[in-house]
Amino acid sequence: DWTTGNVIDEQVAAIREQVGTKRAICGLSGGVDSAVAAALVQKAIGSQLTCVYVDHGLMRKDETEQVEKDFVAATGVQLKVVDAQERFLAALAGVSDPEEKRKIIGREFIRVFEQAQAEIIAEAPGDQPVEFLVQGTLYPDVVESGGGTGTANIKSHHNVGGLPEDLEFKLIEPLRKLFKDEVRMVGAELGLPDEIVQRQPFPGPGLGIRIVGEVTKERLDLLREADAIAREELTKAGLDRDIWQCPVVLLADVRSVGVQGDGRTYGHPIVLRPVSSEDAMTADWTRMPYDVLAKISTRITNEVADVNRVVLDVTSKPPGTIEWE
Ligand code: XMP
Repeated sequence: DWTTGNVIDEQVAAIREQVGTKRAICGLSGGVDSAVAAALVQKAIGSQLTCVYVDHGLMRKDETEQVEKDFVAATGVQLKVVDAQERFLAALAGVSDPEEKRKIIGREFIRVFEQAQAEIIAEAPGDQPVEFLVQGTLYPDVVESGGGTGTANIKSHHNVGGLPEDLEFKLIEPLRKLFKDEVRMVGAELGLPDEIVQRQPFPGPGLGIRIVGEVTKERLDLLREADAIAREELTKAGLDRDIWQCPVVLLADVRSVGVQGDGRTYGHPIVLRPVSSEDAMTADWTRMPYDVLAKISTRITNEVADVNRVVLDVTSKPPGTIEWE
């Protein structure tokens, strides 16, 4: 019988057996999946686990602070924060192709984890090797990265199809058979607070796959502002639970003519992509109240420099995926 209790007991036993007395690291992204995976592994092996939060500069506003605060407060886990902004920006320079971006981001994550691994070993050299990497990979991630049987590769999720070939870590992926709603139930059973468990999904590659075009610091800053406004207004309108997630996308390679203040502007469009879904495998665009859309549009065009147009994505999945890249 499927119960969250059974899933937890089974996984805890399997992880203990797999890891033995060795050590593991777990990448935390601030999202639900990696938080639940980390809590599960912590339950199994306690202080043999160190969590690593990679600040790749592709995060939304205040995300880093939230991980440092909420997750550590909830679990007491050992956390290592790595500032890798320059490294990711350098690796992404000049790249516009979505799959190439995904592969670069997946690879850079692993390189940073290897660096963290070396540091953890240096800090406690006599101890057991750090051999395992915990990831919050879900069933849909596996399927859509082409890992399931008979399915096409739709996009390389950063932690599945985006992994480098020379990966030396042994992977622990305790959520690999679960859907998001099941992961949320497991997280709640493990005692994680609602602020973590009920968070809307946010992809590991972050804003890097929400800039259509090359990723630069200026574009990230601009998108971060627009995204923060959209999230603030959605929360104010009480829509957080009705909407599965709402990617905010910058069409960096598109410009259109506008009229703002004293004259002509030639700026970029921002796309709002609110979707309703059960498991992200399929989705429908959310019929959001017009006044909330109007508020978001007015604020973004007034407050974010270089943006003179806000458009709404009214495509379901299929044919559109949730993210634009
Ligand atoms: P798509 O765009 O494939 O997205 O319809 C389905 C769900 O997966 C999230 N997503 C990702 N999550 N790493 C992640 O952790 C990724 O590389 C990735 N790509 C997409 C997306 O936000 C949506 O919830």
